[in-house]
Amino acid sequence: MKPFLKWAGGKYRLVERIKDQLPPGRRLVEPFAGSGALFLNTDYPSYLLCDSNADLINLYRILKEEGDHFIEHCRRYFTPAANRAEIYYRLRDRFNETENRIEKAALFLYLNRHGYNGLCRYNASGAFNTPFGKYKKPYFPEKEMRYFAQRARRAIFACRDFRETMAATRPGDIVYCDPPYVPLSSTANFTEYSSGGFGPGEQRALAKLAGELAGRGIPVLLSNHDTAFTRQIYRSAHLTSFKVRRFISCRGESRGRAAELLALFKAAGH
Ligand SMILES: C[S@@+](CC[C@H](N)C(=O)[O-])C[C@H]1O[C@@H](n2cnc3c(N)ncnc32)[C@H](O)[C@@H]1O
Repeated sequence: MKPFLKWAGGKYRLVERIKDQLPPGRRLVEPFAGSGALFLNTDYPSYLLCDSNADLINLYRILKEEGDHFIEHCRRYFTPAANRAEIYYRLRDRFNETENRIEKAALFLYLNRHGYNGLCRYNASGAFNTPFGKYKKPYFPEKEMRYFAQRARRAIFACRDFRETMAATRPGDIVYCDPPYVPLSSTANFTEYSSGGFGPGEQRALAKLAGELAGRGIPVLLSNHDTAFTRQIYRSAHLTSFKVRRFISCRGESRGRAAELLALFKAAGH
């Protein structure tokens, strides 16, 4: 099943490749949950799904708690009347101002489906600022939301930095880390998620934590672009590389083949 949100770096098309490398376990922990592609397409007894984006986690929690009731509430934003620039900017302001968690969650979904390229972008003061997307008929992902809500019964969602999530793991867990990609070149910048970037320091800290967890008996699978930098920081892991077809330019003109790297830090003693 496809995720109900459009999300940069979404792994829907890579799910089978990732599953091939994932060991069995009692709980799957995802410190960078994003749209939850792997969660939706695996069958672990339980899940801990975390992300540093508070709006994303709020939406998942509301969908889990309110289910169909919330889905019906969202339907009002998927009408031709709501698909106009003027209304979009008014609703974007409302999203940035409201303190009502349900309203905020519904508007986050609306902005995701009506904003430019499904981009999730905030300004320096934390206000959502993606421009209007000009889509003919934005899709209301009702079926996908229902599926997510049903699967969410076995998941816990938390807004956390990856360091905190990794510190909360225990034996029996399997960890899948899908951090913001390292750039393919110095001009391509793929690091803007949430507010605040994810630089080489964070990438190194994550690789170090993965090694430490594996040493404590908890396997960690990491995905990223296949570059000299990622091969260096993941050198103690078992590496698998493959090509995928995807947009590599932010303008979407040059579809290129970016190699993807999976790094498995195997649990000590296995
Ligand atoms: C590549 S996306 C994950 C995509 C996801 N696997 C999917 O299939 O949609 C990276 C995610 O990391 C989150 N993120 C960025 N910095 C983070 C941090 N320091 N701690 C936790 N999550 C972070 C972003 O909000 C984003 O959702």
